[in-house]
Amino acid sequence: MTLIGQETKKRIIERFGRHVSSGKAEFFAQVGVDLIFGKREGVYVWDVDGQKLIDCHCNGGVFNLGHRNPRIIAALKKALEELDIGNHHFISEHRALLAERLASLSPGDLKRVIFGVGGGEAIDTAIKLARGHTGRPKVISARGGYHGHTGFALAAGDEQYRKPFEPLPLGFIQVPFGDLPALEAAMDTETAAVMFETIPATLGIVVPPEGFFAGVRQLCDHYGALMIIDEVQTGLGRCSDIWGINTYGVIPDILVTAKGLSGGIYPISAILYREHLNPFLHENPFIHISTFGGAEVGCYVALEVLNILEEPGFLEHVRKMARLFGEGLARLQERHPEVLMEVRQRGLMMGLKMINDTCGPLLTLAGLHHGLLTIYANHDQSVNQLLPPLTIREDEAGEVTEILDRMLEWLEGTIRGK
Ligand SMILES: Cc1ncc(COP(=O)(O)O)c(C=O)c1O
Repeated sequence: MTLIGQETKKRIIERFGRHVSSGKAEFFAQVGVDLIFGKREGVYVWDVDGQKLIDCHCNGGVFNLGHRNPRIIAALKKALEELDIGNHHFISEHRALLAERLASLSPGDLKRVIFGVGGGEAIDTAIKLARGHTGRPKVISARGGYHGHTGFALAAGDEQYRKPFEPLPLGFIQVPFGDLPALEAAMDTETAAVMFETIPATLGIVVPPEGFFAGVRQLCDHYGALMIIDEVQTGLGRCSDIWGINTYGVIPDILVTAKGLSGGIYPISAILYREHLNPFLHENPFIHISTFGGAEVGCYVALEVLNILEEPGFLEHVRKMARLFGEGLARLQERHPEVLMEVRQRGLMMGLKMINDTCGPLLTLAGLHHGLLTIYANHDQSVNQLLPPLTIREDEAGEVTEILDRMLEWLEGTIRGK
């Protein structure tokens, strides 16, 4: 018996709508999307009805190493011969090993680690640490940024998601991303932390202006605030370096990683923090607890993710693919000037900025018909996110640009016809 393809699409959608999310089922029906992940392997996913798509969404980096990477699966199988989740109250060899390894991959004295399950939880933990360490309330983040839907992460995020849940924790302020004067105007000696994604993905893959992060670092030092960097999407090789922030030559006080650490197979997240923040946690070792955070089987899987990233040639491959995409996308911009306004890129973190807000959803739809999964940025719907697996091969990268060419041609025709 196979695990998938047992039911017709219609029945799956009905069951999902009845028991999981009636709203999602209705939304997707309205926009004409009935994609249901079936088989998945490498850079490809198949709809349950058999249609093949190249995954250039990768769930924000969950599938950095492709779908069902055989080495990650083997690691999980091996871990299951001896391990389970473990007991988070006690000292753990596997958490210690993974923490040591994460520390060895991180700049400066980002040497200490707290584990979690998902990105939002890790962001919450980062903010707890910042407030606990500084004793200050204020947290500044980017307007339109995205850090997850949990407590503090939600408070630091976009109004559309937090408004229905007010009153939320106080002290959260948003400023435009990339605007140092606005940031400075919002900062004072009550500021516990400034938190940004290295490249805000949901805001439209916004590459920060020259010198921005160096300026953020300076302001944080000046006001005694902590700099938190959300590397949930930009980390683990996505921007051609282990951490996206490395490419800006700045060391944050806290760095958050999640999605890709799972290898797409076992959920796990972590924050790395600098040595000078340790006294607060040393005094309060049980102040943050997560039963499943840093599950031991997950640690084993994450170590294999890091083994792969550290292999000679891995980041060089990412850089090579980034160059190829850069050239291919520049050609597409020349061929489709009517719709494609700007290509945003840092490594394999890429965004296509188009002429208006209808273009993102339309390009997503076009992709579903042409065999490419790319999703528009929710907080700037004129941008489509392009995050292929980092393991993508040269011929597959070429296929992506060819498909994009046809998608943009279709988009041009559609926009002209409107
Ligand atoms: C930049 C960023 N931070 C945090 C999160 C939250 O992660 P999770 O969904 O695992 O809670 C996400 C999720 O998309 C994200 O993109």
